[in-house]
Parts: sequence; C-alpha cells; structure tokens
Amino acid sequence: MIEKNIPLQAFNTFGFNEIAEEFARFNSSEELTELLQHNKNKPLFILGGGSNILLTKKVEGLVLKNDIKGIKIIEENDDFVIVESGAGEIWHNFVLHCIKQNWSGIENLSLIPGSVGASPMQNIGAYGVEIKDVFAYLLAYNIASEEIEKFDAEQCKFGYRESIFKQSLKGKYVICHVAFKLSKQAIKNTTYGAIEDELNKLGITDPSIQDISKAVIAIRQSKLPDPALIGNAGSFFKNPIVPETIVDTLKEIYPDIPNYPSATGMKKLAAGWLIEKAGWKGKSYGNYGVHKNQALVLVNYGGSTGKEVFDLSSEIIRDIKTKFNIELEREVNIM
Ligand code: FAD
Ligand code: EPU
Repeated sequence: MIEKNIPLQAFNTFGFNEIAEEFARFNSSEELTELLQHNKNKPLFILGGGSNILLTKKVEGLVLKNDIKGIKIIEENDDFVIVESGAGEIWHNFVLHCIKQNWSGIENLSLIPGSVGASPMQNIGAYGVEIKDVFAYLLAYNIASEEIEKFDAEQCKFGYRESIFKQSLKGKYVICHVAFKLSKQAIKNTTYGAIEDELNKLGITDPSIQDISKAVIAIRQSKLPDPALIGNAGSFFKNPIVPETIVDTLKEIYPDIPNYPSATGMKKLAAGWLIEKAGWKGKSYGNYGVHKNQALVLVNYGGSTGKEVFDLSSEIIRDIKTKFNIELEREVNIM
C-alpha cells in the first residue's frame, strides 16, 4: 500500500521531520517488483534504518522501506557457515544471532545501527573489521531490468566506507539479501587497542566472541551518542586518506597527530582529531552541534533541521581545509 505525505521523523536516527511524498513497505522481492511495476519512472529512495542519512528537504517520489526478513543457512561444514539474511533484518540483531550460534566474524561490528541490507552500501566497519572480510554475496534487484542479480565481493568493489552501490551503481539496485561466510572457530580479532584495554578492565584474558562483542558495545556506548536520546548518524565525515608526505609535513607542526596505515604510500588521518584540534568539539548552536565526546559526530538535540546540520558540516569542511589543507568528505548520505 502506498501512503502519501508521510512524516519521516521516526525513520531517521537524526530525527528530522521531513515528509516523504509517497511511502510504502515491502517484505519480499516479489512485493518490491509489484510496487515498482506500478510506479515506473518515479524517483525512488530505498530506506533501511535511516541511520546514515541526513534529510534536508521533502523527499520527492517514493520512499520504499525495506522489511525483507529471515535468516537461513545456505552452506555449512565443520569449519564455516554461509548464512543469508533478509535485507530488512536489524544489523545488531543479526550479529547477536550469529554470536549465539558461535559463528565468528562480525562480533566486532556489534551495535552498529541500521539494517543488514545497508551494510554492503558503505562496507560498514568498526574495531578492526569491515564486512568485506566476511562477505559471501548479495542478491539485488536491478530496477531497470527487473531481475535479481548476484554480486560477489569483487563485483561490489568494497573500499573504506565505499562500494559500487555508492558509486557507478548508485540508485540502480535494491539489495534484498546479504550472505556472510562466518567461522565456527572463534577468530578473536582484538588488535584494535581499545578492545584489549576493555577486556583487561574486565579481567578477561582468553575472550570468547561474546566477550569481544560486550567489549565493543561498552566502548561504543562510552563514546557515541545513543540516537534514541540524541539525534545523530554516527561519523558524519570519513577519515581522510592522504599521501604519507602530507602526514610527514603535518607531523612537524603536530607531532602527536594520529595516523594509521593505508594503501601503499598513503595514510589515514583521524577526522575527529582534526575537528577537535580546530576547536569544534562540543560546539553547540542551541538545538544542534558537534558532539562533546566525539567530534566526528554531528548531533540534533531536537528541533533543528537537516539543512542547519548540513550548513554546519560545510563550515567544518571549510575550516579544516583552511587550517590543515585537508579535504574532509561527508560519510552520511545527504538527501
Ligand atoms: P539507511 O540510512 O537507511 O540508508 C543508507 C544508504 O543506503 C541510503 O543511501 C539508502 O538508500 C541505501 N540503502 C539502504 N538499504 C538499502 C538496500 N536494501 N538497497 C539499496 N540501497 C539501500 N557505520 C559504520 O560503518 N561503522 C560504525 O561504527 C557506525 N557507527 C554508527 C553509530 C551510530 C550511533 C549511528 C547512528 C550510525 C553509525 N554508522 C556506522 C552508520 C550506519 O549505522 C551504517 O551506515 C548503516 O549500515 C546504515 O544502515 P541503515 O539501514 O540505517 O541505512
Ligand atoms: N579523536 C580525537 N577527538 C575526537 C574523536 C577522535 O582526537 O573527538 C581521535 C582519537 O583519540 C583517536 C582517533 O581520533 O586517536 C580515532 O578515534 P576513534 O577510535 O574514536 O575512531 P574514529 O576514527 O573517530 C572510526 C569510524 C567509526 C568506528 C570507529 C571504531 C569512520 C569515519 N569512523 O571512528 O565508525 O566505529 O572508528 O572502529 O571511519 C561510523 O562510520 O559512523 C562510525 C561511527
């Protein structure tokens, strides 16, 4: 059923109250096909959990909320399992389900908001793991040909917060199912320093995947605002990847600048550090601002608009360019 003029406040974690001209839900690829066949040539927006979007105006056309549910085993042996999930499953619930079965590989991605279907869009990542590390395949509906197509990891062209679905195939596919290859032996990726520290604090020396998940959840809760309490979409900007020579120059002025290995000849900088150093951390403009614990997160305290947050992000981009000659890129999808 297509509804008209639906407020989207409950459908985005920033909590902005823009209107969708039309809104419908689908819970199978068949339902999706039917909806699209009757609504050809309309602008379309596929909505998951709304945790990586910034609504700045009315959404023209049809917003389609993905509600495809179901988790099933596709292949299994003593070493691994290939598990396929409907795109509309909540990511964190899927992670908890896998942890419960002792399937290892995504425990470091605990508590990331949003849907399973959006996880390949930007190759979600946290605490030393990205979904590309455990990705098996996805099934996506090609809006033009009306066929379901299968994509393997190579075809998805995953990168840091990137995939082909954010680039050349943007707006052309609806991801309906995603499958992951998970290990029956615990992988225990605790290389990300904060996890070790958290486990030490809890006195755990030989962590289970449940322990790692708990440690990740504790770290996230201490740093990131809960969208149920303060509107936000996680990191608003990507961490910039720049040539090593630029990092060397910056180090002369800022010897403590955090930087991480990246592709050959490149380094990743911490955008949160740059934004904090530039004096933006905790800045508040009444009902919106920069979060006090994590400068990479822009927040809506209630009653602001997406346009105001967008303009703030433009100010920050300009300032970081002036102060460090670094170009920040938004991670959040602007609507
Ligand atoms: P939405 O916001 O609904 O959509 C995002 C984009 O994907 C849109 O362009 C939408 O059209 C498209 N899309 C969604 N579903 C589909 C589909 N089925 N088919 C085709 N296109 C689709 N991200 C990380 O990577 N790591 C983190 O650690 C992290 N932490 C976060 C913490 C907080 C507090 C918040 C609020 C966000 C965080 N994020 C993080 C960002 C966000 O959780 C992820 O990007 C998540 O995958 C978005 O899922 P969603 O279902 O909410 O997508
Ligand atoms: N930092 C500051 N000030 C700040 C924030 C960070 O100096 O206000 C410094 C920290 O001290 C640290 C460095 O920046 O030295 C990195 O900080 P942190 O470990 O908190 O991670 P991040 O780079 O800010 C990234 C992801 C997060 C992900 C975490 C953990 C991006 C854009 N963000 O944040 O993802 O959860 O690492 O892996 O890559 C998201 O994408 O929405 C998101 C939350």
